[in-house]
Amino acid sequence: MASLVFYLSATVLLAQSTVAFNCSKPPIYVDIHKRAVHDSPEFQYGSFIGVGTPAQNQSLWPSLSQNHTSFGTHAYCGDNSTLRNCDRSTGGFFLNQQSTYADNGKDFQSLDQSRNETALKGSFGQDTLRLYTHYFETDGASQTLLENSTVELAESGSIAPGIVGLGASSTVLRDLAAKDLIAGRTYSLYIGQGYARAGGAVNGSNTFGGYDSGRFTGTVHKYAMKTENMNPMSLRVKDIIISNSKDTNANVSLFDNAKFPDMKSRPEAFEAAITTNQFPLSLPYQITQNFMKHLGAEKDNTWGDNSLKLKDHFSGTLSIVLEDDFVVTLPSEVLVNNSNITPIQDREEKSDAPFYLSAAFLSQVYLMADYESNNFFLAEAIQKDNMVMPVTFCPKSTPEPYQRPKQSAWVSQGLIGAVIGGLLGGAGIAVCAYCFVLACRRKRAERKLNKDAKKSKMMQLEIEETPEFDPPPKSATPFFWKKR
Ligand SMILES: *[C@@H]1O[C@H](CO)[C@@H](O)[C@H](O)[C@H]1NC(C)=O
Ligand SMILES: *[C@@H]1O[C@H](CO)[C@@H](O)[C@H](O)[C@H]1NC(C)=O
Ligand SMILES: *[C@@H]1O[C@H](CO)[C@@H](O)[C@H](O)[C@H]1NC(C)=O
Ligand SMILES: *[C@@H]1O[C@H](CO)[C@@H](O)[C@H](O)[C@H]1NC(C)=O
Ligand SMILES: *[C@@H]1O[C@H](CO)[C@@H](O)[C@H](O)[C@H]1NC(C)=O
Ligand SMILES: *[C@@H]1O[C@H](CO)[C@@H](O)[C@H](O)[C@H]1NC(C)=O
Ligand SMILES: *[C@@H]1O[C@H](CO)[C@@H](O)[C@H](O)[C@H]1NC(C)=O
Ligand SMILES: *[C@@H]1O[C@H](CO)[C@@H](O)[C@H](O)[C@H]1NC(C)=O
Ligand SMILES: *[C@@H]1O[C@H](CO)[C@@H](O)[C@H](O)[C@H]1NC(C)=O
Repeated sequence: MASLVFYLSATVLLAQSTVAFNCSKPPIYVDIHKRAVHDSPEFQYGSFIGVGTPAQNQSLWPSLSQNHTSFGTHAYCGDNSTLRNCDRSTGGFFLNQQSTYADNGKDFQSLDQSRNETALKGSFGQDTLRLYTHYFETDGASQTLLENSTVELAESGSIAPGIVGLGASSTVLRDLAAKDLIAGRTYSLYIGQGYARAGGAVNGSNTFGGYDSGRFTGTVHKYAMKTENMNPMSLRVKDIIISNSKDTNANVSLFDNAKFPDMKSRPEAFEAAITTNQFPLSLPYQITQNFMKHLGAEKDNTWGDNSLKLKDHFSGTLSIVLEDDFVVTLPSEVLVNNSNITPIQDREEKSDAPFYLSAAFLSQVYLMADYESNNFFLAEAIQKDNMVMPVTFCPKSTPEPYQRPKQSAWVSQGLIGAVIGGLLGGAGIAVCAYCFVLACRRKRAERKLNKDAKKSKMMQLEIEETPEFDPPPKSATPFFWKKR
């Protein structure tokens, strides 16, 4: 009998591991940038996702802890609203009376039980989600419909409520996988810097069921998720080094007890959760004190997030050394902005709040999460001149960066900007690579030329010497987004 049970369960396991994931499913790429959003006067930064029929387009901020996807309502910005500039900061508004929205009723059990209700409170219903893929300003977006998905209407709270929930029980990933629209519950994020707090220009992207292989470089580092935590992705930090760009020999470790004698001994590595819920990093009290002492930083609250401010400008970098020796460096323009504001948060001595590696950290790395195997991966992000190369992230596999061909066809053809969207098929199946490469020149003088060139596209089957030039796949939806 026991052997029969063993045999049956072994068969089930075998069946699961061979049948469950179709790794020929192309991923769904959803970019993150600023755009017009429904019922708000302000262009807002976020993931290009619509809701309802007809579509009400929004800019949703990705959350790695929230499981539901939530939308701002006008009630959220009512009399009791605590969100600053609420009418311009929700990521758009959703009007359920204009949609096919069907309420789930009061008894619906939220998957976000750990969320603080002061931060966000809402009600739940069913509606259609629209994930837009939009490579080019000049072209229409294509959409992936996710019908009858659970959405949350945010009714009160203090945070920006337009959120695409990508926590461990993400309903978007669950539904996409259940409807066989992606290979499995895998997801990748580059959060970008094109919003006010980050003060940069580089846009971000989400890839559902995949990763953008043109967005990262170098070694891919693997970490295990801690599924019992609300933020399942955390890292151990063993050192933090401040380097002065004028004197590279003058590196200072914030862990060095000789340099900072307030510490009796060198501190142990600490664990910090990866989060998108705030911009500044939240570090242990003593490390924060050392940072303040070394750079002359003071309390400040310009952005409402307790980021520290320097008395005098400092031109240098901050390197975070992880336990596996992966070093993530915040460059000078991120470490100290023109107004001398840093991405390091003040911390009370008695605070027991978790430590965070937050959006400022994610501006430098590409994050790839595999919720099927509960592992995640980090690699150095390519910020500029990247190629958009979304490929399937097969569950349980390790992502690999795209290797640029030495003398690529599009360069030799004199094409400055083209998009290659690549989908690499599974084993045994003919490789179907629809590749769109986006290459941008940095120099200002070339901006205009660049813009014209962006109109040219290239579609190829595999990378070959003489590419075939065809118009890109025309989507059914008309062009919606206009540059200001
Ligand atoms: C896997 O997905 C591809 C692409 O969508 C599809 O053509 C193929 O039929 C699927 N295979 C299976 C076994 O479902
Ligand atoms: C980011 O997206 C915006 C559109 O909101 C665009 O104007 C801008 O050029 C993009 N930035 C980069 C660096 O591509
Ligand atoms: C605002 O808060 C007050 C006091 O908590 C409450 O009585 C009132 O119903 C709230 N108004 C709205 C619109 O939520
Ligand atoms: C999302 O779901 C995961 C796993 O089911 C849970 O650990 C986490 O606390 C949930 N997130 C929130 C905000 O409650
Ligand atoms: C929720 O957040 C509020 C305001 O930030 C805080 O006062 C309260 O203690 C929090 N509640 C829990 C359960 O964490
Ligand atoms: C969505 O739900 C409605 C009502 O439950 C049902 O009639 C419809 O067929 C569903 N559509 C899809 C695509 O599942
Ligand atoms: C730095 O932050 C301040 C907020 O006080 C903001 O006004 C300024 O634009 C930021 N500078 C840069 C370069 O991002
Ligand atoms: C100081 O740090 C920088 C950047 O992390 C590094 O390139 C340099 O080699 C370091 N210098 C020394 C002397 O270790
Ligand atoms: C939302 O975006 C889609 C895709 O670009 C577009 O077709 C649609 O018209 C937009 N809806 C509104 C109301 O702007």
